[in-house]
Amino acid sequence: MNMSSDETPSGVKTVVVPAAGMGTRFLPATKTVPKELLPVVDTPGIELIAEEASVLGASRLAIITAPNKPELLRHFGQFPNLVDTLAERGKDEQVAKVRRAGDLIEPVAVEQAEPLGLGHAVGLAESVLDADEDAFAVMLPDDLVLPMGVMEKMAKVRAELGGSVLCAFEVAPEEVYNYGVFDVEEIAEGADLPADQVKRVVGMVEKPDPADAPSNFVAAGRYLLDRAVFDALGRIEPGKGGELQLTDAIELMIKEGHPVHVVVHDGKRHDLGNPAGYIPACVDFGLSHPKYGPGLKKAITAILAEHEAAEAESEAGGN
Ligand code: UTP
Repeated sequence: MNMSSDETPSGVKTVVVPAAGMGTRFLPATKTVPKELLPVVDTPGIELIAEEASVLGASRLAIITAPNKPELLRHFGQFPNLVDTLAERGKDEQVAKVRRAGDLIEPVAVEQAEPLGLGHAVGLAESVLDADEDAFAVMLPDDLVLPMGVMEKMAKVRAELGGSVLCAFEVAPEEVYNYGVFDVEEIAEGADLPADQVKRVVGMVEKPDPADAPSNFVAAGRYLLDRAVFDALGRIEPGKGGELQLTDAIELMIKEGHPVHVVVHDGKRHDLGNPAGYIPACVDFGLSHPKYGPGLKKAITAILAEHEAAEAESEAGGN
C-alpha cells in the first residue's frame, strides 16, 4: 500500500493528543493544574506521550487544548532564564530535564473552545495535517501503554491491511462498562504478528453494560486513523454523555465498509485519568526508578505492615 506521508518508518507524521477535557475526576487538583501535567514520579503524562510520539518517528504533536489550559503548551517552551540560572549553578542534569520536552518533538496547539467530547477534539486536528497525510495517530495522555512500541505494530498492520488500526487490551468482563468495547472477528494472519494479536473489528460500542458487551477487548488510548475519520466525525450526533464520541465515528466507518483492525496489546497499561489508576502508575514508575525505587520499596512495605496491623487490631476490637 502506498502511503504518501511515509517519511518515517511508521509513516506517521502527526500525533494528536486530546488534552482539553475538564479532568473532573481529579478535582480539586484540576481547578488550576491540567491533569495532563500531573507528574508520574517527576515527569508529566504529556511529556511521556511526547516521548512515545518521538520514538514513533512523528515530527508534530498536535495538542488539543482548552482556553484555560495554557500551561500545557508552556511545558514545551525553552525557559531560558531558568536554564541560565541552573547552568550557572552547575546543575546540568536539571538543565537537561527542563529542555527535554521541547527537544522531543514540535508541539502545535489546537484550541477546543468547549469540551464537546473526544470525537469533537480529534476532528479539530484536521486543520494541522498536511495535504499528503493519509493517516495520523491519536494518543490519549491519560493512557500509558507499556512497553512503548504498540503504535509501530499498528502502523505495520495499516501498511498491510489498510484502513484504521486501534489498540485493544483485554479486561475482566465486569470492567467493560468503563471503556469503548470492540466486536471482533478472527483473521487468518496480520502483518507478521501472531494471529491472536490482530483482529478485524466489526463493531464498537462506548461504555456498554457488561451484559450487552460484544467482547472484553477494549480500546486503549492509541489510534492510527485514516483521514476518512474526519468525514465520519462530521456526520455523527452527540452520543454517550451528550458528547461527540470518537467511538461512534469509528462505528460509522465500520458500517460503511472501512477496514478497522485492532492490535491486542501484549503488555501493561496505566490509566492516569483518575486517582485509582494514577496512584498505581506512580508506584510502578517509582519502584523502577534507580534513585527512588529502593527507598520507595521500603516505605511501601512499612506502610502496608502498618495498615495490616491496624486492620487486624480493628477486627480484633470488633470481635
Ligand atoms: P476523558 O473523559 O478521560 O477526560 O477524555 P476528561 O473529560 O478530562 O476527564 P473527566 O471524565 O472529566 O475526569 C479522554 C481524553 O480526551 C480529552 C481529555 O483531555 C482526555 O485526555 N478530551 C475529552 C478532550 O480533549 N476534549 C473533550 O471534549 C473531552
